[in-house]
Amino acid sequence: MPRRLLVTAALPYVNGHIHIGHLVEHVMCDVWVRFQRLRGHQVAFLCADDVHGTATMIAARKRGISESQIIREMGAAHVRDFQAFAIAHDFYGSTDSPRAKAFVEDIWRRLVQAGHVNRKSVTQLFDPVQGCFLADRFVKGTCPKCGAADQNGDSCDKCGATYAPTDLKDARSTLSGAVPELRSAEHCFVRLEDLRGFLEEWTQRSGALAGPIARWVKGAFLVDGEPLRDWDVSRPAPYFGFEIPDAPGNYFYVWVDAPVGYIGALADWCATNGQERAAWWPRRDEPGYADPSVEIHHCIGKDITYFHTLFWPAMLQAADWKLPTRIHIHGWLTVNGDKMSKSTGTFINASTYIDSGLDPAHLRYYFAAKLNGSADDLDLNLDEFVAKVNSDIVGKVVNLASRTAKFVPTLAATYPDDGGLFAAAAAESEAIAACYEADDSAGAIRRIMALADRANEFVERVAPWTLKKDPAKAAELERACTISLNLFRQLCVYLAPVLPGLAESCGRLLGCPITTWTDAQTPVTGATIGPFERFDRIDPAKVAAMVEASRPTDTPPAPSPLPPPPSPATPSEPLAPEVTFDDFAKLDLRVAEVLTAEEVPKAKKIVKLRVSLGSLGERTIFAGIKAAFPEVAVLVGRRIVVVANLAPRQMSFGTSEGMVIAAGEGSSAFLLTPDAGAQPGMRIH
Ligand code: MSP
Ligand code: ZN
Repeated sequence: MPRRLLVTAALPYVNGHIHIGHLVEHVMCDVWVRFQRLRGHQVAFLCADDVHGTATMIAARKRGISESQIIREMGAAHVRDFQAFAIAHDFYGSTDSPRAKAFVEDIWRRLVQAGHVNRKSVTQLFDPVQGCFLADRFVKGTCPKCGAADQNGDSCDKCGATYAPTDLKDARSTLSGAVPELRSAEHCFVRLEDLRGFLEEWTQRSGALAGPIARWVKGAFLVDGEPLRDWDVSRPAPYFGFEIPDAPGNYFYVWVDAPVGYIGALADWCATNGQERAAWWPRRDEPGYADPSVEIHHCIGKDITYFHTLFWPAMLQAADWKLPTRIHIHGWLTVNGDKMSKSTGTFINASTYIDSGLDPAHLRYYFAAKLNGSADDLDLNLDEFVAKVNSDIVGKVVNLASRTAKFVPTLAATYPDDGGLFAAAAAESEAIAACYEADDSAGAIRRIMALADRANEFVERVAPWTLKKDPAKAAELERACTISLNLFRQLCVYLAPVLPGLAESCGRLLGCPITTWTDAQTPVTGATIGPFERFDRIDPAKVAAMVEASRPTDTPPAPSPLPPPPSPATPSEPLAPEVTFDDFAKLDLRVAEVLTAEEVPKAKKIVKLRVSLGSLGERTIFAGIKAAFPEVAVLVGRRIVVVANLAPRQMSFGTSEGMVIAAGEGSSAFLLTPDAGAQPGMRIH
């Protein structure tokens, strides 16, 4: 019975690069997807960047660019990283898509109509300099319990106490350093308790959650006699997100629109690929709603379990959408037994792995060999990584081909008697499939490696390299190689979800591509043997280089407070007298890149910049922007705008060969930055 499977991985935050922790999830998901495709099922594998929230707004302010520029840059980088690891997303979208917005508003309208929304006043810390409310992680202060300084807004690292940010002593905003004030604002809440009966049923009895997860959700959130807390779903301006239609000036909390991004990505994919949204994710009044062959699968890390097992199903149910069939939950990745950390070089970005010359297939294999369908944490031990990949893939699997492929030009015309080896391995097919279906790629790989061991015993016993030396044994050699290469191909079919590249290379070797799971049932005969493509061992030096490249290069710069946000209260400067276009055209404005930035000892308000104008060469410019940039080093690398044809100006400390363009002045000077892609030397007109 063919199934139609919609599969998603959690939507990565736009604020950081893809790292090996994200890859655990995408490998798990990709292996499942590729397995289902080999089994003949229809799959849509979708993902997107999760772009809303305070962090994006703050990052944009800090870099002096727009949120949409961050979204464009990071989206492209995320797609590049996932492609490098052969993650076969059909579509990679963004949660700010207009279609996603329409779904968010529609789901919201239904929640309101069903009476699940109420409004209450919330008192929160407010940063008077940044002009925004502060989430817990943007507040630091002294622990109210033990008095330890510099603790987070929600808990103390020293004594473990948890508290509200309003309990902290001498609280400070980490955004501006300002002392936060208490302010109240009206928030919208979803009354989850209204949906409790449904949540009990869905989490405990629908089969969507594995037993241990269902029990954890029950014990942590659905405690008998304790009502579910209302969920605070709105944030007052300023907030980067979708504005709430019936609460102007308030925005949906990022965790409201993030999962709706799954539906948004589906609709965006459908719109450009001739697919019907309702065929994949139906609403109650659409045909597939009760069809068990239309399935929805979310793959997530255990840290975001309650969003996906309480809030999200509650929203879907209240708004009449089909519910997820299964939530696939994995554990947390550690490296060499510890949390990933920048200082030890174990916070490894996907791009750093690639740039170190390591093969993405190796990490896919290692993660797949550890993922077992439970939410237990998994460890990347770097020594074991090298040893396991080299011994399993190179030593046991590829070995079967590398030792036989060059000895004969073709496979035997009929499959020889192999003492039942091929048939025994073919009979393992459903047991291996059951492991993949249950996200237990570790179990699948254990079985596959046991088959590889038996195949290797065979090759050792018949020793094709000895047969090769005796021309009288040519037929025996052909039989030995035919068996060995077919056992290799069978393993490649079973490993195809994990190592798609190996399966493709095997297809080229035996002139017969691997396209379905049942390819493991029939041996290939008579084919001309193609080129053998090497599969290299891991060089431990590259692993060491990757760790080195993941360490911080030098001491991190002291966190500089954010520039204050634009203040709408400041009246604009009066307009200058009109000029003609010719007047304007006399000015030659250029994009420039800051190469160095230095303080000028004799002039407290001045920064000395060396800038590049591309092929027009370099210039030295003295700019009166020190008050806005007390840490001048932050200017290095920035692309700015300069007046390039201003007559050089002699100053007591040197000659200024141009002028930097900025809005405002003094400590409120804001430099202009072109959109990404503008090159130094480009003229602005
Ligand atoms: N944006 C949210 C998800 C929204 S889904 C509607 C988010 N983003 S994240 O970038 O922080 O994480 C994305 C996924 O990667 C999550 O499922 C998370 O569990 C997983 N991982 C992030 N770091 C990880 C490890 N160190 N180990 C394993 N998985 C990790 O959460
Ligand atoms: Zn404490």
